[in-house]
Amino acid sequence: MKFLVHTYGCQMNVRDSEAVEALLVAAGHEKAANESEAELVIVNSCTVRDMAERKAVGKCGNLIAAKEGRGKTVAPHVKVVGLMGCAVKRMGADVFKSLPKLDFAVGPRRFGVIPRLVERCLAGEKRILELPDDDEVPTGMDAHGGGNSFQSYVTVLLGCDNRCSYCIVPDVRGHEYSRPAREVVAEVRALAARGVKEVCLLGQSVLRYGVRNAAWGPDDPPSPGGYTEAFPRLLEALNAIDGLARIRFTSAHPKGCTDELVRAYADFPKVCRHLHLPVQSGSDRVLKEMGRRYTRAEYLAAVAKLRAFDPEFAVTTDVIVGYPGETEEDFEATRALMEEAGFDNAFVFKYSPRPGTRSAALVDDVPTEEKERRDQVLLADQQVRGQARNDRLVGTVREVLAEGPSLRNAARWSGRDGGNRIVVFESAGTLAIGQSVRVRIREAHPQILIGDII
Ligand code: 5AD
Ligand code: SF4
Repeated sequence: MKFLVHTYGCQMNVRDSEAVEALLVAAGHEKAANESEAELVIVNSCTVRDMAERKAVGKCGNLIAAKEGRGKTVAPHVKVVGLMGCAVKRMGADVFKSLPKLDFAVGPRRFGVIPRLVERCLAGEKRILELPDDDEVPTGMDAHGGGNSFQSYVTVLLGCDNRCSYCIVPDVRGHEYSRPAREVVAEVRALAARGVKEVCLLGQSVLRYGVRNAAWGPDDPPSPGGYTEAFPRLLEALNAIDGLARIRFTSAHPKGCTDELVRAYADFPKVCRHLHLPVQSGSDRVLKEMGRRYTRAEYLAAVAKLRAFDPEFAVTTDVIVGYPGETEEDFEATRALMEEAGFDNAFVFKYSPRPGTRSAALVDDVPTEEKERRDQVLLADQQVRGQARNDRLVGTVREVLAEGPSLRNAARWSGRDGGNRIVVFESAGTLAIGQSVRVRIREAHPQILIGDII
């Protein structure tokens, strides 16, 4: 049948959705061009904040209404509606209280069974619930579509064992599990052979690769560079793959910024000099309450280590405003830290209590309007800082992977440099998507760089 997967949330979900699409195609289904021709629609949900969960559940509700001929018929041909991802694991059987007519619901780490679930639904079963265990090893994780994209995500670490006070991710995505390195290397090799130029390795705390369970086995060849830590050793192996141009990874915890990681950045030219390093707060008191296991000084030391090695090293972050008990002083400490770290980009989130997390027991005492104000202040600061960071790059030459022409002007292309900065340039007319070009920057903005091909 013709299917569509709608994705909410992080890159992990984007990757899981891609795998589901590939598995459905392998099972004989066909990707629909749009919702109006889809017969099977799957919503991949996020639950990291309340709003994210509401959106996914709401979307599912609309699709079920469409299936029954009620409401605005967005999808007139839909016969089967399924929900997957983090919200399913959080809600458990309650998912059918919110969505009584849902055909199937499947939690993270269990998406490999979706083609079977579709068959069962077509045979008349309803309200199927599949909840993974916290230690489950998924099937179908290496399924990639045959698309011609030059970029691909590769999951290397599942779950999270960090247990930050506010975060529901460990409850829904389970315990850490590192995929065997030889499996990851084989997957990336196959992608590169198919024309993929850039991979982004995924894990909630990806630098903990190989910590809970060994990723490298005794039969694996020794590290030529003498790397002893699992993640830098993986970068070494991937850097050696022919045809691959770039290696990115996300997301990171400062504890993983080891000397070996910095050595890997220096040794391996394919490894992009960008790290997404969520700080969450700049107040030592709040960091302690959050259970982040670093101080503001330790965080800043990690950033300094990366910038000492390359001043243009791009560091991006996530911040939460309005954590329970966050005072004006705590907030100002966050503001100051962001300035000191000189972030190249920042995502700001308003605290949202999640059921079952430690901080959900605390009073959510920062008023919504105050959270909004703090959010706006940090974003305004970041605009100024982004401009200043980018101004320093005017006149430099960036190595850019061309992503494609702009929708409004086909002669205007955009791509990203190694630091994940968006670079816009006029095409010479013969550019291909995924091609590497050198662009001299002539103009800087807070979020983009503009330049000319040389
Ligand atoms: N409320 C607000 N933001 C949250 N994040 C995680 N949990 C919460 C929460 N309960 C943010 C963190 C994390 C990002 C993916 O989402 O900043 O890095
Ligand atoms: Fe959540 Fe902390 Fe894990 Fe990030 S590292 S997903 S914030 S528990």
